Amino acid sequence: MFNVAIDGPAGAGKSTIARRVAAALGSIYVDTGAMYRAMALYLFRKGIDPDDAEAISRECKNADISIDFQNGEQVVLLSGENVNDYLRTPEVSDMASRTSVNPFVRKKLVELQQKLGRQKDVVMDGRDIGTVVLPDAQVKIYLTASVDVRAKRRYKELLEKGMEADLAQITEQIRERDERDMNRAVSPLKQADDAVLVDTSDMTIEEVTDRILEIIKEKRERL
Ligand code: DC
Repeated sequence: MFNVAIDGPAGAGKSTIARRVAAALGSIYVDTGAMYRAMALYLFRKGIDPDDAEAISRECKNADISIDFQNGEQVVLLSGENVNDYLRTPEVSDMASRTSVNPFVRKKLVELQQKLGRQKDVVMDGRDIGTVVLPDAQVKIYLTASVDVRAKRRYKELLEKGMEADLAQITEQIRERDERDMNRAVSPLKQADDAVLVDTSDMTIEEVTDRILEIIKEKRERL
């Protein structure tokens, strides 16, 4: 298998870039954030309090989450229902950030992710891919950008989808999510020792994609 791990904070451009890199390589793009979001949606629908660790630990085991690929796009199925359209709301984003700290949630989803990585050549993005999920990935990238740049990207993304958005609120939410993602006890967001840092603040999507494809090419030549 040839696996590429892309980690970084919310809004760094991971999914856009990972999707393009996967297409260029002929690999599958695996969005692990969508799995945490699907779990959050499940817990949200069950009316679970995000601060009730015990209830989350218990309920997450019953969530039936699976991944399908339709026309090369990842589809997340919750008890067989395609929930892709419900994963990006502010409520689900907040719930995902809170519930993804739970070790039982992580264990269940990491197992699913590792299985995909063993079966296919993947470009997988998330927070702990290079450090925990695919420690043997051939290429590891740590993608980042300033908080303001990331907030503006998320804001534009929501507006383009016809959703309401408030830039100041999104900036604050990104700050809070960074804080939680980087400081949680289990699998915090951090750059793997062998990951290459790419700061996308002043780069276009094309420039970032080309840079990563170049890193992959260099790595392949050395393998
Ligand atoms: O990348 P995203 O914004 O879709 O991720 C949603 C949430 O899930 C985010 O708060 C961080 C968490 N997450 C995680 O803990 N580990 C991952 N591998 C991917 C996402």
